[in-house]
Amino acid sequence: MIVEPAPAKINLALHVRARRVDGYHEIETLFAFLRDGDIITIEASVKDQFQLSGPYAPDLFGPVENLVTQAADRFRDTFNLHQPVSITLDKHLPVASGIGGGSADAAATLRGLARLYDIPVDDRRLFDCADALGSDVPACLFGKTALGRGRGERLDRIDGLAGTPVLLLNPGAAVSTAAVFRVWDGVDRGGIADGSLLDRSLAGRNDLEAPARTIAPVIDEVLHALEAHGDPMLVRMSGSGATCFALYRREEERNAAARAIRADRPLWWCLESTLA
Ligand code: C5P
Repeated sequence: MIVEPAPAKINLALHVRARRVDGYHEIETLFAFLRDGDIITIEASVKDQFQLSGPYAPDLFGPVENLVTQAADRFRDTFNLHQPVSITLDKHLPVASGIGGGSADAAATLRGLARLYDIPVDDRRLFDCADALGSDVPACLFGKTALGRGRGERLDRIDGLAGTPVLLLNPGAAVSTAAVFRVWDGVDRGGIADGSLLDRSLAGRNDLEAPARTIAPVIDEVLHALEAHGDPMLVRMSGSGATCFALYRREEERNAAARAIRADRPLWWCLESTLA
């Protein structure tokens, strides 16, 4: 049995540079990964099966729309490997929330199937599968802190911030990435600066924050809740929202903020984690 973690990703910065003729946007982003997320389990089986478990399983529409089954189909067509498999997705990350849940699941499925069939994880065809499944899937397949360009698929590894305590907060509003990009104002506010990862993050921004707030105004409250407790190094929205995150110097500071926010907002999703 293969157990493959599908860690959440956050965008420490996300700069939108241009609208493209293919409907996508040219971006520059700092991808980082958490030590927590969903879990994919894969095993050889007598027939194809897909199971869901975990707190957010009910929020997925069903196997047909699920990126996990799409990833498995694409993998098997690409590598011409059609033996039946049983795949279980243990869903802990909220759906459509800017932390790459579906992309992480798809990437973990590709990694897990590659392990099952002894295919090297750096096989170019695996990257091509990821690229075809979504803009964030190549970064999730790579799984390491990186500067992403293009629509997010051109990746360069960066070091820094590993072990940093992080708090994620989501108000329960699912936000469509396509809808948020559609209301971006078209202004190029510049690329990601040079320097250490923390300096680049602090000098950066998330250009999707303003458009996402017009769709889900509650994002303002989420950012304020994170800013109101302790002394976080950085507070920002991730991806196209609505999840926001804060980075802290110490775990105790993060834990105290989490306790206070949970008491104020018992219905919001709140996860204490660490940058990988
Ligand atoms: O690539 P993915 O399917 O995850 O993207 C979802 C939608 O988000 C796209 O259809 C597109 O409208 C928008 N998008 C974009 N530019 C990107 C990534 C996503 O416009 N770089």
